Amino acid sequence: MTAQPSDIEKAAGVLRAGGLVALPTETVYGLGANAEDPAAVSRIFRAKGRPPNHPLIVHIGGAEQLDDWVEEVPASARLLAEHFWPGPLTLVLRRGRRVPLEATGGLETVAVRVPDHPVALALLSAFGGGVTAPSANRFGSVSPTTAQHVRTELGDAVDFVLDGGDCKVGVESTIVDATGDTLSILRPGGVTREDLEAVLGHPLAVPTTSRVRVPGQHPSHYAPRARVVLVEPEKVAAEAQLAQELGHQVGVFLPPSFADTPVKAHAVVALPASMAAYARGLYGFLRELDEQGCDLIIASLPAEEGLGLAIANRLRRAAGPRPTA
Ligand code: TXA
Ligand code: MG
Repeated sequence: MTAQPSDIEKAAGVLRAGGLVALPTETVYGLGANAEDPAAVSRIFRAKGRPPNHPLIVHIGGAEQLDDWVEEVPASARLLAEHFWPGPLTLVLRRGRRVPLEATGGLETVAVRVPDHPVALALLSAFGGGVTAPSANRFGSVSPTTAQHVRTELGDAVDFVLDGGDCKVGVESTIVDATGDTLSILRPGGVTREDLEAVLGHPLAVPTTSRVRVPGQHPSHYAPRARVVLVEPEKVAAEAQLAQELGHQVGVFLPPSFADTPVKAHAVVALPASMAAYARGLYGFLRELDEQGCDLIIASLPAEEGLGLAIANRLRRAAGPRPTA
């Protein structure tokens, strides 16, 4: 059930007491702590099983609070903040004194965003401070887009879960590095490159997937249990059938243009034609195929434009090499 005003008060109290609150945002659920409480921030890393040198995002209640958390805001970053907040955009800027190094993984920069979700905004307003929160999943696995996903992933490691329903964007925020002379996209996400460029009036650099630029973005991030294999869209059905015949329990992401192709596989997800619907469903689809017992997922990359850029980025990472240990 969606969080009530009494739940918001309770969650704000948990944050004040140094506890961990899972909170809904428009992108994915976050695992939040008081950004100014180093001990609480350290608990996040333990709960996630995440190495402590991975920087977190500080969530704030409005663009007007940005200067309280960072040292210097270039005009271009201010323009983006005013245009896209609240929304799925994270700005990396120089760390303000308020932000402990525990929250930035020791970096002198800090990532900040204003989430576009009524429950998150109500919590930030009731709490009054900043809430540092990574996605509320175990390190390396698929981000949660429902309160139930959070409970399944983190169980007792989180003190309180605020339920805000299904996340409407479904992939994480776009991260823009605004610390240098020119802005660049560190992670594609819910705000498209095209929308950013339209507001800025010039093109933006986007990372190539082979280059791991954002600290904490290992190739095998966002991975389900099943191995993910990417093939050309027209080969999805045939590759799936072959792997199934070889004894795999195959899950298929069937592209909309091949919706009528018969597929022999263990489980089939008929992908929606709209990229917004695909992004919203992506992590749920991966979880679903895991739950159905698939050991292999055959998928293809969408066109890398609009939200397709973020979806392709997450699929590539899900298909990336896994730690062998
Ligand atoms: O949509 C989102 O961004 C969600 C919701 C909960 O807000 N959060 C999220 O957090 O995806 P997380 O921790 O899973 O991913 C944050 C990313 C990491 O890849 C981290 O390396 C990057 O942000 N990041 C954080 N601070 C940074 C910094 N100072 N410089 C460069 N990258 C940074
Ligand atoms: Mg994450």
